[in-house]
Amino acid sequence: MSFIENRYTKLLGIEHPIVQEGMGPFRTPKLAAAVSNAGGLGTVSTPGFPFDLKAAAREFRDHIEECASLTDRPFAVNIPVGVDSNGDVLPFSDVYVEAAFEARRADPAIAERLTVMTTSAGFPGPYIQQIKDEGMIHQHKVGATRQAIKSAEAGVDVIIAAGFEMGGHAPSKEMHTFVLVPSITEAVDVPVLLTGGARDGRGLAAALSMGADGVAMGTRFIASTDNADWNPLYIDAILKSTEGQDIAFDGVYGPCRALKNDVTTSLSRHHPTESDEDPVERVRQKITLMKRAQTEGDTEGGIVLAGQVSSTIQDIITVAEFVPAMAQEAAEILSRLSSTTLVTPQGV
Ligand SMILES: Cc1cc2nc3c(=O)[nH]c(=O)nc-3n(C[C@H](O)[C@H](O)[C@H](O)COP(=O)(O)O)c2cc1C
Repeated sequence: MSFIENRYTKLLGIEHPIVQEGMGPFRTPKLAAAVSNAGGLGTVSTPGFPFDLKAAAREFRDHIEECASLTDRPFAVNIPVGVDSNGDVLPFSDVYVEAAFEARRADPAIAERLTVMTTSAGFPGPYIQQIKDEGMIHQHKVGATRQAIKSAEAGVDVIIAAGFEMGGHAPSKEMHTFVLVPSITEAVDVPVLLTGGARDGRGLAAALSMGADGVAMGTRFIASTDNADWNPLYIDAILKSTEGQDIAFDGVYGPCRALKNDVTTSLSRHHPTESDEDPVERVRQKITLMKRAQTEGDTEGGIVLAGQVSSTIQDIITVAEFVPAMAQEAAEILSRLSSTTLVTPQGV
C-alpha cells in the first residue's frame, strides 16, 4: 500500500519515498534488498579502496548479484566519484561504474532491478552521460545549492541534499539540512531527497514540508535485524551513543562523521602536511579502520561511521515493518496538519 505517492516514487516505480543510501565501504546487499522489498529503495554500496581494483570490481558485482537475487524490485548502487584531499580522482570510481554496467549487461533480470545509480563526493561530470546512455536513473548527492544547480543543469535526474549532521562523508561547507534542503528545492526543478538526520515519519514529513520528495537514510538502517552483515558491536555502539558523541574528522574526500573515540579524535586533530606519508596510503589506512569496526566490531580501535541521529536511535528495526510504518506516520502527520483549523487573528 502506498501512503505517499509523488513524482519521486513514480519516477522510480517504488511505493514509499524512503531510501537506504549507500554505506561503503561496507556490505549492504541484504539490507538493500530488504528495503526494496519493503517498498523503499535499497542501495548496494562500494567495498572501498582495495589494492586490487579487479578484485574490488568482482566483489562489488557479487554484492549487486546477491541483492538482485533477493528482490525483484528496483534497487540502486552508490558510487563515490570524488577527488581526494590533493584533488586527484580516486581510481576506483571508473572501475565500480563499469562493474555496475557490466552486471546489468550480463543479465536482463539485474538490468530490470538495478535501475538507479547514485553518485556522491564530487561532480559526476562524464558519468552523467554514461548513466543516461545505460538507461539508468541518476541520483547525485550534494552539500551545497550551487552544486545542486550545476548537477541538475548537467542532466542529473534526482538531487540528494546532504546536511552536515549526516553519517559518513559530510559536506565541506558544513550546511545543515534545515537550511540546505529548502534552498535546494527552491533552486532546482528535479526531485530532491533530504539526507542527514532523518529517522522516522516525522523526518519524512518535515522533508516533504521543505519541498523535498523523500528522504535517504543511512544510520537508522544500520540498527536493523536485516543488517546481518555487520558486526553486532557496531550496532551496539550506535544504540549506546548519546548527544555529543559524534565527531567530524578529515576522511577520504573531506569531513567525515563517525562516533567519537581515540582514533577519530586524533584524526580530527591531524592536519596533513607535505611531509606526511603518501596520501593514497592514508586513505587506505582510514578505510581499513572503518572495515575493522564493521567486520570485527572493534569500535574503539576502528572508525564507526555514523550520523548525529545515532544519539536518538534506541531500537533495532525490522525493515519490512519499519518502511511502510514510517511512510504512514508521515502521511498521518501531514494530513493532521493540513486539517488543523487556521485561526484568523481578530481585526485583521
Ligand atoms: C556507515 C556509513 C557509510 C557511508 N558510506 C557512504 C558511501 O559510501 N557513499 C555515500 O555517498 N554516502 C555514504 N554515507 C552517507 C549515507 O549514504 C547517507 O547519506 C547518510 O548516512 C545520511 O545521514 P544519516 O546517517 O543521518 O541517515 C555513509 C553513511 C554511513 C553512516
